[in-house]
Amino acid sequence: SVWPPLFNLNLSQEVEETIQIPNNGSAPLLVAVQVFVSNVFNVDILRYTVSSVLLLQMSWLDPRLAWNTSVHPRRAITLPLDSLWTPRLTILEALWVDWRDLSPQARVDQDGHVKLNLALTTETNCNFDLLHFPRDQSHCSLSFYAFSNTVMELEFQAHAMNEIVSVKREYVVHNLSTEVPPQQLVPCFQLTLSLKNTALKSIIALLVPAEALLLADVCGGLLPIQATERIAYKVTLLLGYLVFHSSLVQALPSSSSCNPLLIYFFTILLLLLFLSTMETVLMAGLLARATLGANRSPSTALRGEQRDRKNPGPIPEEAPRGIQGSKRSWPETVDHIFFLVYVAGVACSQFIFAGVWMWAACKSDPAPGEAAPHGRQPSL
Ligand SMILES: *[C@@H]1O[C@H](CO)[C@@H](O)[C@H](O)[C@H]1NC(C)=O
Ligand SMILES: *[C@@H]1O[C@H](CO)[C@@H](O)[C@H](O)[C@H]1NC(C)=O
Repeated sequence: SVWPPLFNLNLSQEVEETIQIPNNGSAPLLVAVQVFVSNVFNVDILRYTVSSVLLLQMSWLDPRLAWNTSVHPRRAITLPLDSLWTPRLTILEALWVDWRDLSPQARVDQDGHVKLNLALTTETNCNFDLLHFPRDQSHCSLSFYAFSNTVMELEFQAHAMNEIVSVKREYVVHNLSTEVPPQQLVPCFQLTLSLKNTALKSIIALLVPAEALLLADVCGGLLPIQATERIAYKVTLLLGYLVFHSSLVQALPSSSSCNPLLIYFFTILLLLLFLSTMETVLMAGLLARATLGANRSPSTALRGEQRDRKNPGPIPEEAPRGIQGSKRSWPETVDHIFFLVYVAGVACSQFIFAGVWMWAACKSDPAPGEAAPHGRQPSL
């Protein structure tokens, strides 16, 4: 026949039979899955990925594997995976999956209960919600699909367990949940990791220097406008802030919607610093011109006097203003008013930002799969 002579027909049929899914009549076979999350070791917000270490503990009943203990006194045996049926899982969001044990074995009890432990490391894609970065919270899903079976044959019952003991992380998993999405054609279950950013580092490294720079800039307004150090001071602050700003922008990811509010905050800060530097340069320039004009006017008056000695006209009575005496020149007055408005504006901007931070919610654009004319929600 077609069978190789070394194989006996009965054995082949037996092997083929045990690698088929156990039949549970008209109901699907129930596979209980416990997901132990033992580590979430890398959360990369720039690449939108999460790396995690998981242990899957699956158990189901395969009555064909049961044996009579009075004939074979063993309580349990271990079998290689190619000699029995096991669910084959694919993680939909995974960029890569590293199954730690390359030839795992299943443990079978004498009554046919099969237990299979699979340890894996995986990097999965996650749509972080970074609107409130660095106090952001996101939900990352890992969808496990058994593509070789249908929902008529197989059904998962999943539970998750948080076994993370490492606390030296920026992002912590504060909640874990599992669900079986309804109305699927392929059996699946979904694990959701709720991640919370506990980054004190970002607050210290981003907010504190930015606020300090803004405060230093406001204080710079107290230097008299005649002092040339004021321009140097403001320009130095602006340059320092520009360096800080460019490194900050590189440290934050970009997205089509729900960009971090912090980016807007730091851009407004940049505009404020720019405005105050511009004002200093402008007013210093106007003051220098006014002083120059005031210094020049007595001599021109004198020359005019000498020229028009014969018919003496009204001698201009303008006194050089602002340089001596308590009276301010107009650029100084404008500078003083600007300083008051600027302080009020800076304070206002901080309060407005705090309000936006409290009330803003991320309204993301519809995903391409939902919005496009031919798009639809994936349903497997
Ligand atoms: C077979 O299906 C029934 C009904 O859904 C369920 O209670 C039972 O546990 C299933 N048996 C196996 C071996 O999965
Ligand atoms: C197990 O084997 C013994 C001895 O052959 C037999 O008496 C008994 O009925 C068997 N039990 C079952 C459940 O088949």
